[in-house]
Amino acid sequence: MTETTDNAAAAALDADATPFDQLGGEAGVRALADRFYDLMELEPRFAALRAMHPAGLEETRDKLHWFLCGWLGGPPLYEQRFGHPRLRMRHFPYAIGTRERDDWLACMQQAMADLQLAEPLQARLRAAFAGTADWMRNQAEQAPPGATG
Ligand code: HEM
Repeated sequence: MTETTDNAAAAALDADATPFDQLGGEAGVRALADRFYDLMELEPRFAALRAMHPAGLEETRDKLHWFLCGWLGGPPLYEQRFGHPRLRMRHFPYAIGTRERDDWLACMQQAMADLQLAEPLQARLRAAFAGTADWMRNQAEQAPPGATG
């Protein structure tokens, strides 16, 4: 077992540990951000999501990693570099409706599953990601065909 895995396993047993600690600190958060964008590049079902992003994802990987470290209770690496995240405003250039939200969440869900995160940690992160991703929506949805009122 690596030291990171040992630390993550120990933190997972501690209910008071932050999600950052439970993930195994910076290395664990990096693994999640990397898996998330690897899947976005690899999986045909995330092609539309991938197409919204820049051609090269290196900077985007770094930014998600830095942001998640602080957001999950670890060091505020994003803020130290860029100031307040103003995440919703930074997403205004992209048309985000329920489809984009759900694709993002499905990609993150698969990344968490692939890393075999403990289920209680996955459940906690799933709820946090769902709230934030929903808050990022900036498109009025069309009513489904046949809907009235
Ligand atoms: C709801 C669906 C979402 C879509 C479609 C989406 C899409 C995008 C896109 C296209 C970028 C620009 C990438 C770049 O220029 O490098 C971006 C940036 C970013 N996204 Fe999202 N995103 C979503 C949700 C989220 C969520 C839930 C989080 C965090 C929990 C997040 C965190 C970030 C961060 C930290 C950046 C970098 C911001 C910056 O430019 O400094 N996004 N996102």
